[in-house]
Amino acid sequence: MFYIIDLKSLEILLKGLSDFIDGKSRLLKEKHRKNATVFHYYQEIVRNWNKLNFIINKTTRSLKTKVDLDSHLKAHLYYSTYRIFQEKVPIRIIIQELKPSDKLLELLKKLTSFSWSRALEGKSFNESLSLEEAIPTFFIERLTPVFSKEFLIETIKSMNYTPTSLDVSFRINDLRFKNDRNTTCKFIIDDLRKEGIKSHQDKEVPFIYYTKNEFKSKLLSSEWYKKGYIILHDKASFLISQLLLPKSNELICDMCAAPGIKTSIIAQLSNNESKLIACEFNFKRLMQLKKLLKKLAVSNSFLLNVDSTIINNYFHNSFDKILIDAPCTGSGTFLNHPELKWRQNYEFLNQNLLLQSKMIESSLKLLKPGGILVYVTCSLYPEEGENQIKNILDYVDPLDLPHYFSPSYKIDGEPLKGTGRLFPSIHNTQGFFVSKLKKK
Ligand SMILES: C[S@@+](CC[C@H](N)C(=O)[O-])C[C@H]1O[C@@H](n2cnc3c(N)ncnc32)[C@H](O)[C@@H]1O
Repeated sequence: MFYIIDLKSLEILLKGLSDFIDGKSRLLKEKHRKNATVFHYYQEIVRNWNKLNFIINKTTRSLKTKVDLDSHLKAHLYYSTYRIFQEKVPIRIIIQELKPSDKLLELLKKLTSFSWSRALEGKSFNESLSLEEAIPTFFIERLTPVFSKEFLIETIKSMNYTPTSLDVSFRINDLRFKNDRNTTCKFIIDDLRKEGIKSHQDKEVPFIYYTKNEFKSKLLSSEWYKKGYIILHDKASFLISQLLLPKSNELICDMCAAPGIKTSIIAQLSNNESKLIACEFNFKRLMQLKKLLKKLAVSNSFLLNVDSTIINNYFHNSFDKILIDAPCTGSGTFLNHPELKWRQNYEFLNQNLLLQSKMIESSLKLLKPGGILVYVTCSLYPEEGENQIKNILDYVDPLDLPHYFSPSYKIDGEPLKGTGRLFPSIHNTQGFFVSKLKKK
């Protein structure tokens, strides 16, 4: 039995792929993301882009006459190549679905002559890994100095499509509760179960629950979600926000706040009693932040539409605690954001490195002496993590991290104190660098 995609979904998918090819859009339009079939195929085709591209190029190059491929035809080819090579769907099913033109039919037939063993002959380890696992060589090169070969492969595989990626995690937001916390949590979980959404609680974080991907759309249409009692996000966001240990009346700055997941967790952890300044540079994202905080009943935040690299011009030695959830390459998030794989290069890395170091510099001026800095990035590259912190060790003292973080990469033969990591293959979260430091 092979899955047959309906005609309407196929049209939307091919248009989305064609826009991706033309560079018009890296993401599927919001309204189409709700169509599970379109979303699934779009994500998986983009996830495997270099691999599919390689097969298509090899095949078209071997044709006797040169073919001119426009983005419309290319979209059909990426879709067919994904179905034939990843899903092992027979070509007759694809022909039945696509009703191809003569030109496309000729290409499809030619595709089936492709052989991986022949195509990879003479390629280096990095090139073969890059093609077989659909990962940029730039990523492999960055991580080869800090990972063993086995861990590199394990990490790459865990960010491709695996059974564990079928889990959806959500948090119960108790800021909306009027009654006892435990009773209300139990009531929500029981009620979701009655609606057919089975879930189980995380072992370390009592507010985090998991359900299967198949229940996601039901969860999103539940009243609990619509009214802000539950919110979908990665467990990593909770573990990171928890590092701040926010308390009543502490003045806390979230320097990169939108869309507001961590801001809302900080508010929940302090029961809305800490004082939060949430900064965001991008106005559209600031509006998303505002909407989310309202929905989740966060009432302790003051929002600022500012460039956080220069807010030290307005505040000095003011904050008890600061969170920098810095803009980064997102190299730890390929499971959820496969499109980011194909943006990885030196230019993108260097842009982020500059922004990160300016933010760290600004945060050191904003913090009170003895204040706490939590700097994190959802990147696996040492440049955006350990190397950034190594540069400021004269100004900060490292603080201990909870046991559930893995040690950081080694710097001069030792993990760097006050820093750690979350890995997709170990923690079942997005990949993160985390650090907790005290201003001297
Ligand atoms: C990794 S995201 C933050 C995610 C957020 N902390 C959360 O948990 O939902 C980084 C954010 O920093 C913002 N940003 C980038 N440059 C900035 C700057 N110079 N000043 C303030 N915010 C900036 C981006 O627009 C983006 O929203």
